[in-house]
Amino acid sequence: MDEAATAALVYRENNENGSPTFQAVMDLLADTFDLNIEPLKTFDLFEPTYRSFSYFTENRTCAANVSAIDVPLFLSGNPVKATGIQSVATRPSYRHRGLSRDLLARALAWCDKQSDLVLLHTSIPDFYLPFGFSIVQEHFFVGKPPEAVGEACAHELSWESQKDRALLRQMLLSRTPASSVASICGLSGMFILNAMGTEGLCLYHLPALQVVVAVKNKEGGTLCLLDIIGQKIPTLAQIVGALDCAPSSIEAHFSPDLLDWTGTKAPCQKKNVLMIRGEFDIDRPFMLQPTLAF
Ligand SMILES: CC(C)(COP(=O)(O)OP(=O)(O)OC[C@H]1O[C@@H](n2cnc3c(N)ncnc32)[C@H](O)[C@@H]1OP(=O)(O)O)[C@@H](O)C(=O)NCCC(=O)NCCS
Repeated sequence: MDEAATAALVYRENNENGSPTFQAVMDLLADTFDLNIEPLKTFDLFEPTYRSFSYFTENRTCAANVSAIDVPLFLSGNPVKATGIQSVATRPSYRHRGLSRDLLARALAWCDKQSDLVLLHTSIPDFYLPFGFSIVQEHFFVGKPPEAVGEACAHELSWESQKDRALLRQMLLSRTPASSVASICGLSGMFILNAMGTEGLCLYHLPALQVVVAVKNKEGGTLCLLDIIGQKIPTLAQIVGALDCAPSSIEAHFSPDLLDWTGTKAPCQKKNVLMIRGEFDIDRPFMLQPTLAF
């Protein structure tokens, strides 16, 4: 990168939530992605490993940023050390000077010291190809609903209810992987931001099964299962019974291997694709929960 590009800018690395530089990074993300992090304060679920690599102007505005976090990934049932890249943004007046590429190189140098695997989700994969990332095709799973088992017991959680928020928080912090093939188990703050930001997403507490399920109803009576939060994953038949619903079909937007149900794989066509850099040893179709996209 041309030195002139950063002449009036100060480079900083930071992971102190609440510091003035942290707030300046959040302001950049609010301006770029319309991101509101207030829910993270309400739920007290800031990601402790969030680390930002940024350029600041003289008046402490964040001109460009790339962030890294630890990703609590499980592959084939085992925890895998992985890091994630997120919050990649440059203010419009500072773009096309090489700031993002510079910050990405710095962030990746840090990631490489933490783990052999880096993941990200992006709508502009071409930007990341020169850094050794490749696109991984995810699949969702579609099929007939199973015969319902058990009594109806669903309670829809409300963002307004302090009791529901406390329940959700406690369950997120003590959850187990939703799949033995591939899943993320953690990033509770991301779950809150994604769940709040996904139109039509509903959270149901199923007390008899001791889980919260994230679902979406699609046109034509299809039930989309987006995530299951609990210490033990119930079968899909139990979930359908507890929800007391009669969907025409089911879509599982994560690997359904623990649900005692099989669906047919279908390629995801999301705006944001999953990219990986490093060792990613998985030979079965899978999808990481969209509720934990970072
Ligand atoms: C993408 C973004 C971070 C690039 O920041 P930047 O500091 O201008 O990036 P750099 O100067 O290091 O690199 C620019 C190069 O990136 C590539 N690039 C930029 N935007 C791109 C896009 N939307 N699609 C594909 N490639 C892109 C181009 O090759 C560009 O080269 P050019 O300057 O010759 O046109 C910035 O445009 C931005 O904040 N966009 C909005 C937020 C966003 O999309 N973030 C990425 C989400 S994963």
